[in-house]
Amino acid sequence: MRSIYCGQVSRRQLGQTVNLCGWVNKRRDLGGLIFIEMRDREGVVQVVFDPDRSQAHELANSLRNEYCIRVTGEVRARPEDQVRDDEPTGAVEVYATALEIVNRAAPLPLDLNQSRNSEDLRLKYRFLDLRRPEMVKRLTTRARITALARRFLDENGFLDIETPMLGKPTPEGARDYLVPSRVHHGKFYALPQSPQLYKQLLMMAGYDRYYQIVKCFRDEDLRADRQPEFTQIDIETSFMEPRAIQLLVEKMIKQLWREILGVDLPDFPVMTWDEAMSRYGSDKPDLRIPLEIRDIADLAKDCGFSVFREPANAEGSRVAAIRVPGGAAFTRKQIDQYGEYVKTFGSKGLAWMKVNSRASGLEGVQSPIAKFLDETVIGAILDRVEARDGDIVFFGAGGFKVVSDSMGALRLRVGRDLNLYDSDWKALWVVDFPMFEENPEAGICAMHHPFTAPKNCDAAKLREDPMKVYADAYDMVINGYEVGGGSARIHRNDVQQAVFSVLGISQEEQQDKFGFLLEALKYGTPPHAGLAFGLDRLTMLLTGTDNIRDVIAFPKTTAAACLMTDAPAFGNEDALKELAISVLEREGEESAGV
Ligand code: AMO
Ligand code: AMP
Repeated sequence: MRSIYCGQVSRRQLGQTVNLCGWVNKRRDLGGLIFIEMRDREGVVQVVFDPDRSQAHELANSLRNEYCIRVTGEVRARPEDQVRDDEPTGAVEVYATALEIVNRAAPLPLDLNQSRNSEDLRLKYRFLDLRRPEMVKRLTTRARITALARRFLDENGFLDIETPMLGKPTPEGARDYLVPSRVHHGKFYALPQSPQLYKQLLMMAGYDRYYQIVKCFRDEDLRADRQPEFTQIDIETSFMEPRAIQLLVEKMIKQLWREILGVDLPDFPVMTWDEAMSRYGSDKPDLRIPLEIRDIADLAKDCGFSVFREPANAEGSRVAAIRVPGGAAFTRKQIDQYGEYVKTFGSKGLAWMKVNSRASGLEGVQSPIAKFLDETVIGAILDRVEARDGDIVFFGAGGFKVVSDSMGALRLRVGRDLNLYDSDWKALWVVDFPMFEENPEAGICAMHHPFTAPKNCDAAKLREDPMKVYADAYDMVINGYEVGGGSARIHRNDVQQAVFSVLGISQEEQQDKFGFLLEALKYGTPPHAGLAFGLDRLTMLLTGTDNIRDVIAFPKTTAAACLMTDAPAFGNEDALKELAISVLEREGEESAGV
């Protein structure tokens, strides 16, 4: 039907007859001549209908936006004054000799020529929204990314091996999506949060370089960069040091940036988790913003301000400062807004100090907390943050996590507000995460996942003082996004059992949930390590959007619903019966009170 895509017609086809298939993007009626901007996947081209070709011209009169049409015509050069250099097909037009209306379109519920449609409307009519060139471009880039990744991994000896979707739960820290079994009443499969255990079992089976571009399912609170089903480029290797794997996949990421954006990323620096938290208050620092956090607890141990002094002397606490160049110009209102902002991260307040003239000592600073501090302490703090006249210094004091989170977030917010970005791209590795973290509700949890190897530590040491142990885990971070993460894995049965018991998993539960893994670890397991990239997040970065839904053809809302198909839906009564499932409560109905 088609001899060339609309978006590919150029001077090269001058004088040729082409057959185009696509949609009416826009229509302009200029008295006699009718101009149609015709669109397909590859772009648009101008089609001209001349009254001299009366049959086609008459039919063209009835064209409306989004009609599906076929056009036969001759490629001509546009008159000199109508050449559009900003459009790929702007030098030519197609002089139509025949037109077929394949299908008419009802009046459209959204305007495809602008992107201001509400997102709900776009998601409801996704099949129309996907016609927009912006969306075509993003999905095309996504396809190129997967093609390039596959080629790279294939060339480096990785085997693409599929793993089950219906399996047992793999703990990655989220809730599982469960699938009821019809054959085994009362039993459920879990959709994989990742193929973690399967890929480790493949290593134990000797398939020493594995990859898979694979869907993962996590029932968790959704955000702008999180979907309930998302895609990983999942990788595992045996007999490779973590650093060697990092360098190998770093090469793949650099290749993506080069081929898709024409950008050469410099070698990724490696930073420990401790350093990232200390300097940036985050385990995924956005290094494009040059602001840094400085710890000042040692300077505040004996100071007169109890808000600082107490955490300065307490285990697990932190007193930190961040200098904003030129920030002395902030108004009270702006400072108060930042104060409100850090409260959303649990901070109790945001102390600040404007530095008007360092030479003038106490006189030269303006701050609600200056009265609690003496000149020496203030001088030492300002030295520590390297404050200059015209700066403001913000302070956070309290528990380590709250101070890190709030100062880290403040750093990003101020960086964005003042547009302090010093480069387009900053990538790095964050390594050596703590093995465990403790939270009030769940107790001790694995920071990565429970199959991550501890760094330089045996089973005995692990059981003795688990909270001091670091993991051989690593994340790749680009522009403040965690695009990938992985670790060296435990390949010894005793270490795996020690980790499970630190996590409070009883012997019995270990056998029940992970018996197959503990068994497999008995039969000559090789040392192995790997990681997984979030394909959606990579695509977001490579297409310049901060909304993950923009890079997924049919995404879910933040309430995990599909507005187009109305999924999820109530189960059909017969199907539920067959599954031996009775529903206690339905959305929109009163609880059955169980
Ligand atoms: P992790 O849980 O860190 O590791 O996931 C790997 C990468 O997947 C992306 N990602 C997500 N993207 C979109 N929506 C989500 N809900 C979501 N959750 C995670 C992130 C993240 O870096 N099995 C381990 C990997 C390994 O150890 O090899 C794992 O899944 O970009
Ligand atoms: P207060 O003495 O509580 O009025 O606090 C004096 C200043 O310290 C105010 O500017 C508060 O915003 C700030 N502040 C209070 N608690 C903290 C905290 N935990 N971290 C940083 N600043 C704080």
